[in-house]
Amino acid sequence: MIEKNQMDSLFTQARQAAEKAYAPYSKFRVGAALLCEDGTVVTGVNVENRSFGLTVCAERNTLCTAIAQGKLSFLALAISTPDSIEPVGPCGACRQVMGEFMAADTPVLFGGSGQNRVNSTVGELLPLDSLHELKK
Ligand code: THU
Repeated sequence: MIEKNQMDSLFTQARQAAEKAYAPYSKFRVGAALLCEDGTVVTGVNVENRSFGLTVCAERNTLCTAIAQGKLSFLALAISTPDSIEPVGPCGACRQVMGEFMAADTPVLFGGSGQNRVNSTVGELLPLDSLHELKK
């Protein structure tokens, strides 16, 4: 069970990571912070390209970085979109990748620059995912 202050701290790290986003085309920075089972936090950002379709979202970059570091088990994910006031949820592709590596009950917190934050889970964001169903 992740404490609220731990999620808040994870969100702060996502917000700090967003400063490093490479988003010259959309000007929409995204930062993500992933709490691994070993207590370490891996962060990542969106990285755009002038060939727009090559852009990779912050959430997927973060998960791929963590996997490359040998992490395979994750406790929580926070996502910051400081260029929107309201929270912006992860895209469908990122939800699918989350479903590959994170259990359905894993908390996912996301928020923009305003006060509103959404406390969700991987299972809520990607319902009826076959991997989750098989794990039951
Ligand atoms: N973006 C993310 O990093 N994560 C999402 O889940 C949604 C979209 C990025 C992609 C692009 O660089 C910018 O936000 C605008 O779509």
